[in-house]
Amino acid sequence: MAFNANLLLVTAFLCLLSVHHGSACYPAIFSFGDSLQDTGNFIHTFANTTISKLPWGTTYFHKATGRYSDGRLIIDFIAQALGLPLVPPYRGGGSFSRGANFAFGGATAQNPNTLAGLGLNVTGFTDRSLFVQLGWFKELLNSVPSLADRTFLGNSLFMVGEIGGNDFNTALSQSKSIENIKNALVPGVVRTISSGITTLIELGAKNFIVPGNLPIGCIPAWLSKYKSSAPGYYDANGCIKWLNDLSQFYGSRLQDELKKLKSVHPTANIYYADYYGAGTRVFSNPKQFGITEPFVACCGGNGHGCDGTGPVCSNPLNHASWEGFHPTEAFYHAVADGLIGGPFAIPLLSQTC
Ligand SMILES: *[C@@H]1O[C@H](CO)[C@@H](O)[C@H](O)[C@H]1NC(C)=O
Ligand SMILES: *[C@@H]1O[C@H](CO)[C@@H](O)[C@H](O)[C@H]1NC(C)=O
Repeated sequence: MAFNANLLLVTAFLCLLSVHHGSACYPAIFSFGDSLQDTGNFIHTFANTTISKLPWGTTYFHKATGRYSDGRLIIDFIAQALGLPLVPPYRGGGSFSRGANFAFGGATAQNPNTLAGLGLNVTGFTDRSLFVQLGWFKELLNSVPSLADRTFLGNSLFMVGEIGGNDFNTALSQSKSIENIKNALVPGVVRTISSGITTLIELGAKNFIVPGNLPIGCIPAWLSKYKSSAPGYYDANGCIKWLNDLSQFYGSRLQDELKKLKSVHPTANIYYADYYGAGTRVFSNPKQFGITEPFVACCGGNGHGCDGTGPVCSNPLNHASWEGFHPTEAFYHAVADGLIGGPFAIPLLSQTC
């Protein structure tokens, strides 16, 4: 009898475990963001652009897929770790029963009118902001009613971002002051992301990963635009301090807001993804991740873009930056490992089916 009772207990325990596993075994991933997250929406909208051709995609896909890199992005490593298919770009059409990606290269979090109201020149901007991407998501739910099922959406994984980096990039490229960016743009981006998550919760979504920004002071494009010989201008890794401070400042404001959202929606699982921490870990010890050239772009250079006319490095796995602005697969891989396995592990990613 005692034996049987133990067996019962063990069985009950295993059932609990499997229920727990079951709830983390996502049927689908839905994603919103910008070029750090776009798996093809941009090139399905604009066919013949630089990124539609090799050497973009050369490392993993051996063809250009519309990813702004030589290979996989963080979302791809997450999908693979969870045993799910790579998340298809919504604008590429097809079946979205295992999820859809709405991220769009160049997208800002806030819409152009809001950015104009904050003093930015938005001439020539097309609106692919988070609000527009959520509109595409709702359009998908309307056209495939089975995807609108609240249980399905409640079991699915949602990545909201990275988005907002382009709000800051636009301000930086228009020489706005760092105070202006911190006081006006950061709160606007945080509000926009929070409101997007609220919209998704209303539709039934429950599991959220919300990335902050990478250490943007380590990006070759900014390192060459914002050079200085002032003492203490660079951190110990060789990155620009004030730009990395901006990423950290934004990350802490975003985390404050996520805490508020969690208290309003206690049944939602809302997790911050520390791209800053996981990225800084790579720049602190690049060789540990096989990266010998943390600040030299692999593709382009010497006046060439990464457009098939310029040089391409012999081994992209040794570089952190693909074309001077976007990371390589090697860098994304190292960041994703930090988010999946630790030390920046996101609990929502720790269980597989
Ligand atoms: C693509 O663009 C290049 C120049 O950027 C042009 O030479 C070529 O004809 C274009 N191809 C198509 C199919 O439009
Ligand atoms: C705004 O940007 C456009 C396109 O880049 C440029 O032509 C225009 O001169 C800019 N306007 C102002 C007021 O700076």
